[in-house]
Amino acid sequence: MKSYNIAVIGGDGTGPEVVREGVKVLNAAANKFGFKLNLTDFDFGGARYLRTGEVLPDSASGEMRKFDAIYLGAIGHPDVKPGILEKGILLRLRFELDQYINLRPVKLFPGVACPLVGKGPEHIDYVVVRENTGDLYTGTGGVTMKGTPHEVAVQAAVYNRFQVDRCLKYAFEYTRKRNKKKTLALCGKTNVLTYLYDLWERAFHEMGAKDFADIKREYYHVDATCMWMVKNPEWFDVIVTGNMFGDIITDLGAITQGGMGIAAGGNINPEGVSMFEPIGGSAPKYTGQNVINPLAAVCAGGMMLDTLGESAAAAAIEKAVMDVTANKLKSLAAGKMGYSTTQVGDLVAERV
Ligand code: IPM
Ligand code: MN
Repeated sequence: MKSYNIAVIGGDGTGPEVVREGVKVLNAAANKFGFKLNLTDFDFGGARYLRTGEVLPDSASGEMRKFDAIYLGAIGHPDVKPGILEKGILLRLRFELDQYINLRPVKLFPGVACPLVGKGPEHIDYVVVRENTGDLYTGTGGVTMKGTPHEVAVQAAVYNRFQVDRCLKYAFEYTRKRNKKKTLALCGKTNVLTYLYDLWERAFHEMGAKDFADIKREYYHVDATCMWMVKNPEWFDVIVTGNMFGDIITDLGAITQGGMGIAAGGNINPEGVSMFEPIGGSAPKYTGQNVINPLAAVCAGGMMLDTLGESAAAAAIEKAVMDVTANKLKSLAAGKMGYSTTQVGDLVAERV
């Protein structure tokens, strides 16, 4: 029987609770579709940091490389200063494992309340391919005259052609494989970031014309992208963009699909080890209450199976989640679902 080795990082706050339900659903899918998941837990997160003073052991990414995928709950602890865990765990793993794609599907499931007036599941179904290793996230820059009235801070948006090309290639191929509108939109800011997004735009059209003539190309400035994501989300099929814009527009996308209870993301290295996570954060105030919505973690698990090649199992999970949102849950918000965290996990697992 086919088996996969999965590293599980429950993480902080409600992370372990949602991961538990995700694992429940993943195991149901594995039973149904005839494969096996070997899970190994890792205790990375804020609690470990507070206990040991170490954010992430240097051996971590080497250790992670031995697995077929990583399943992550949430990183973020109320007693740890913002930035330490994000940079020290999440971003470090993304960089060291060269997970150069951040894949964020924006799909409104039936029965889910959408904040956009007049929009339903038929209007909101697209995917953002966010570059995940470059841009403002490289930490290029510095500060001088710190603490004086003349303090200067510089933080540069950095891209090289190689990074842009490999991201675009993934996005074009993804658009082709998705086989919906066959339209890839580049989201940039060519009117102001005349070096950065000029590079992206040239690379986009060169690659598209040469290797992806079957894919329609569109371009939107990032500010306009936000506007259309609200006004006409049905225009989009796949959007590709840099790391910082991608971070911002995917939160906007997430809220249009029902928010943090449902939005999932994949940090993907198409040639290496990928990491899948609900994008909502650790929601510490709900910890241990069995009220947090596990569906984002469940959907992240589905993405993981899809990336591992178990697409039928992934589709079954999505179908089960849709049935639960359409026919069971009162709301996606923590404590308002009409069911507990574990019950929602059971509902999905039964349907798988
Ligand atoms: C995300 C998060 C992270 C990011 C933070 C936690 C560093 O917002 O995954 O979108 O900015 O990438
Ligand atoms: Mn974000």
